[in-house]
Amino acid sequence: MKTGIAHLYIPGPTNVPDAVRQAMNVPMQDMRAHDFGAQWIGLFNDLKGLFRTVDGTVMLFPGSGTAAWEAAITNTLNPGDRVLMARHGQFSTLWVEMAERLGLEVDVVDVDWGQGTPATEFAARLAADRKGQIKAVFVTHNETATGVTSDVAAVRRAMTDTHHDALLFVDAVSSLASVDFRMDDWGVDLAVSGSQKGLMCPAGLGVLGVSVKAMAAAQTATMRRAYFEFKDMVNLNAGGYFPYTPPTQLLHGMRCALDRIKAEGLDNVLARHARLAEGVRRAVAAWGLELVAEHPSLYSNTVSAIRVPADVDAREVIRIAYDRYCLSLGSGLSRLAGKVFRIGHLGDLNEGMALTALSVTEMAMAEAGVNIRFGSGVAAAQHWFSTGRMAGAQVNVAAE
Ligand SMILES: Cc1ncc(COP(=O)(O)O)c(C=O)c1O
Repeated sequence: MKTGIAHLYIPGPTNVPDAVRQAMNVPMQDMRAHDFGAQWIGLFNDLKGLFRTVDGTVMLFPGSGTAAWEAAITNTLNPGDRVLMARHGQFSTLWVEMAERLGLEVDVVDVDWGQGTPATEFAARLAADRKGQIKAVFVTHNETATGVTSDVAAVRRAMTDTHHDALLFVDAVSSLASVDFRMDDWGVDLAVSGSQKGLMCPAGLGVLGVSVKAMAAAQTATMRRAYFEFKDMVNLNAGGYFPYTPPTQLLHGMRCALDRIKAEGLDNVLARHARLAEGVRRAVAAWGLELVAEHPSLYSNTVSAIRVPADVDAREVIRIAYDRYCLSLGSGLSRLAGKVFRIGHLGDLNEGMALTALSVTEMAMAEAGVNIRFGSGVAAAQHWFSTGRMAGAQVNVAAE
C-alpha cells in the first residue's frame, strides 16, 4: 500500500494539471451536431500560435507522436525518396527506422549520443547533392533520450546557404510549448509533436504543423496512406469537424491546457522551463555528475540525462526512487541503459516539484551506491531558484 501522491519526473507523459483533468470530465458529445465544430476552430488557431506559424496548418491525429511522424512522411514523400537524417539518441534512431520501413532511402549521419543534429555535416551533404536528390531533411529538435536540443535554425541556414529545396521535418515532441520553437522563422515544413509532454495532456493526440510547401507536396506525394490522409483531415477541420470519431475528452483537455499556457504566456512558459532546467543542472554539477549532453549549447530545458559513476547501475537508482519513494525517473534508453537516469522537467512543474525530484534522487542515488552529500544538489538548485527569482535583490543565504 503506497500513501501520498506518485511523483512523475519522466519526460512524458507529464503531470496533467487538475484543471485539465477536470475539463475532460464531460459527457460524450454528438460529433456531427451543427454546433459541434465551432468549439474547435479556436483550438487549431491556438496551436498555430504555439508552433509560431501564421500560414501553416495544424492537424490533430488520434494517436501519439509516432503517428504524427508517420502522417508527416506518408503525406509528403514518395517511396524511394532520399532523405537526410542524423542518429544521436533513441528517438532519432527510431525515426530513421520508421523512414526505412516506409521505403525511404535514408542517408544517415551517426553522431555521438550527446551531440545534436550536425548542421555542418548536413550542409556538406546538401552541397554535394547537386541534382537535388535529397527530398527531405530531418531534425530531432529535442532528443529526449539524451537531453540534447539541436539547433534547427542552423539546419535551415545550411539548407538556405546550399540553395537546397528539400522539405524540413522537425520532431518537436518533447520541445513544443517548453523549448523555443519557431516553425515559420526556421522554415519548418513538418513539425511533429504529441499531447503528453509540454502540452500537459494525456497521450492520445499526435499534433502536426504543416507548412504551405508541405501541403503542396501532399498533393502529389505517392506514398500510401489512408487513415493519415491530410486531405480528409483538412477538409473537415476547416469547420471544426474530423474525418473519424474524435477523442472529444482529449480535445477538451487540450483546450484547457492551451488556456493555461495562454494565461501564463508562452514566453513565460519557456522561461520557466529554462529556470527549472538550470536548477536541475546546477544540482547535477553539485553532485559531481555529468550530463549526457556534451556541451552547454546542447542542454535541454525539458529533460536532463545524467550519467551515474561506472560502478553504479542507474536502473537501481530508478528502482529505489520508485519503490521506496514513489517517484518516477526516466530510464536510460537502449545503449544508455544502466548508465543514465533522466529527470523530466517539463510541463506542469514548479520549483517545489523540481526540488522534490532532486531530494528523492539524492536518497535513491546514495542508496544505490553513489557517493552523494545529502542536500548538495538540492542546495545548489535552491540557491539558483531563490536568487534567480529575486532578480538581483539581496537574498539572505549563507555562503557555501
Ligand atoms: C523526441 C521524441 N520523438 C518521438 C517520440 C515518440 O512519441 P510517442 O511516444 O508519443 O509516440 C518521443 C516519445 O517520447 C520523443 O520523446
